[in-house]
Amino acid sequence: MDIPSLSRHHEKLGKTFEVNALLGLSEVCTAETENIRVVNTAGKVWGIEPFRLPGMEYLCGRGFLTTDGEMWNHSRKLLKPTFSKTNIVDLSPLSKELDKLLETIPANGSVIDLQPALSNMFIDFYVGKALESQASTDKYDEEDLDAAPRQSMVRSLAAQTDDRVHIRSQIIQGMLASALRLYPVFPVLARVALSDTTLPTGGGKNQDLPIFVPKGSTVVMSYYTLHRDTSIFGSNVETFRPERWDEIHPEQWEFLPFGGGLRACMAQNKVLVEAAKI
Ligand code: HEM
Repeated sequence: MDIPSLSRHHEKLGKTFEVNALLGLSEVCTAETENIRVVNTAGKVWGIEPFRLPGMEYLCGRGFLTTDGEMWNHSRKLLKPTFSKTNIVDLSPLSKELDKLLETIPANGSVIDLQPALSNMFIDFYVGKALESQASTDKYDEEDLDAAPRQSMVRSLAAQTDDRVHIRSQIIQGMLASALRLYPVFPVLARVALSDTTLPTGGGKNQDLPIFVPKGSTVVMSYYTLHRDTSIFGSNVETFRPERWDEIHPEQWEFLPFGGGLRACMAQNKVLVEAAKI
């Protein structure tokens, strides 16, 4: 699916539109917060199994990625301890991999592509080679802060506080949120109606009436489009500007890099802590 092109369709046709299929059921595309909230919270009505299980079972088996209902619920329960606070706060395995990566970076100032190194580090880390614990070494020094690219943000934060740890943490949070806003890992997420149902809004001439969604129809939620809504994120939405987060305050269903509701990402806290560390 061409995600930016879907976004352009939303610009032309509105936050919610229906794609009529020549054969089979039509599909509703939405970037409307109220519809997204309902789809993510009315668990018995919306699912993923009918379209994911047939194609993915051979690869992922039956679990939280491929099923709905009891099987999905059971898989999430099994995963819960993995994301406990104890597992999140111990960054020593990650530090060990990170130190190895930092050693591969040439000290002569030459430009290198970090992507392959980060991919390898991710694989090493997650396949468990890094289980051996090692005391973490924070390689950042105070000078890094002065070298941060967003000088204006640094200055505006410095005007509010002289707590350097707070300033650094605000910059990192702004950068992570900005990256996840513009390039969400899941730019679109789909659900299928498991029974006849309605979406609260987007229908009728003024696009403000409920929409009937028959059992078996798909709803495509575009988080990519939602994250570019100027009424939420202000002007120049395509610009990567971490300071934006000082000016805007998206509500729960307006910024969804980790999804929301019943199938929300279980690793959210863990990945944010690890990404901040990296
Ligand atoms: C930056 C990294 C990540 C992002 C942005 C992200 C984002 C998301 C999103 C948007 C969902 C919702 C999916 C849906 O609504 O169908 C999700 C679900 C989930 N993610 Fe993540 N994720 C990340 C990393 C991870 C990692 C590393 C793990 C595991 C180690 C993980 C485990 C899960 C689980 C268990 C679910 C629940 C799926 C379900 O119940 O259907 N995520 N994630």
